[in-house]
Amino acid sequence: MGNQAENLRFLVQQMKKDFQRNIKSVPNGTRVIAVTSGKGGVGKSSFAVNCALALSKYKQRVIILDADLGLANVDIIIGINPQYNLSHVIAGEMPLSEIIFNGPRGIKIIPGGSGMYHLANLKDWQLESFLAKLSHLDGMADYLIVDTGAGLSKTVLSFVLSSDEVFLLTTTEPTAMTDAYGLVKTIHAEKYQGRIKLIVNRVPSEVEAKIAYSKLNIALERFLHYSIDYLGHLQEDPRVAQSVKEQQPYVLSYPHTVAANDINTIAERIIKRDDTDYSGHTVKDFFGRVTEYFR
Ligand SMILES: Nc1ncnc2c1ncn2[C@@H]1O[C@H](COP(=O)(O)OP(=O)(O)OP(=O)(O)O)[C@@H](O)[C@H]1O
Ligand SMILES: [Mg+2]
Repeated sequence: MGNQAENLRFLVQQMKKDFQRNIKSVPNGTRVIAVTSGKGGVGKSSFAVNCALALSKYKQRVIILDADLGLANVDIIIGINPQYNLSHVIAGEMPLSEIIFNGPRGIKIIPGGSGMYHLANLKDWQLESFLAKLSHLDGMADYLIVDTGAGLSKTVLSFVLSSDEVFLLTTTEPTAMTDAYGLVKTIHAEKYQGRIKLIVNRVPSEVEAKIAYSKLNIALERFLHYSIDYLGHLQEDPRVAQSVKEQQPYVLSYPHTVAANDINTIAERIIKRDDTDYSGHTVKDFFGRVTEYFR
């Protein structure tokens, strides 16, 4: 019996080592992921921060753009208090390097503030100058995770449509599911070319998440002839709310809690996919696309 347990432990360790060996950085590019939802409060910011930290454990370089222009949340979850944001960079009052926060495990956080609204009113030369500043970020990140607000505003849509892929969060509540459907419908109508990947939050187990995914996907296939992917689930976990109160992300303060395990599984799935199609993508291009939608 003891021998069997020993063998099993050895096997698990080998698998972990193989996984670590096989992960590589995104080649010469930045994979831009918009984290979004139809309904508010379903767990986007908490997911974005903890997922960034889980990715960084696998030596991935991650920048989070806090693009929720109404209520920034990433700062609260990480426990930082930014004085300046992108609007100060756009106005030429602050260098980009001064507004970027260094978070735990080497992740970087860009507070968006009201910066994006200002983009709409920039003259061409001002925009060029702003985009040139952003080009300093290229080569600094394998992933740019964009934490958007909820819903169908023009702002949210411009971030979503400019991203390489969309992580759509929902809970299994009927209102959240209906709003998720509405958001996919709009993204699809705008002829979005990337993939939309569903994360079902606050479930008792993966079974409920898969059922929710199937329901949503069947409706999308039937009425829109469109489908989305399943990325993963996060269990309902009291440590999540507790860690928000403590302003300490749960993958750091409660690394063995159920939500942390689930987020690690998601991070591994994100890394495992073939990234060659992100080669050459830049943070500057992403902001260029966002600006086009804003103008
Ligand atoms: N897996 C979970 N288990 C338990 N509680 C959770 C879970 N995920 C999120 N929550 C709770 O939901 C709250 C809202 O989460 P969060 O702020 O990340 O949502 P959001 O989608 O970013 O909201 P908004 O739309 O306002 O930006 C958290 O403070 C936490 O208390
Ligand atoms: Mg949020």
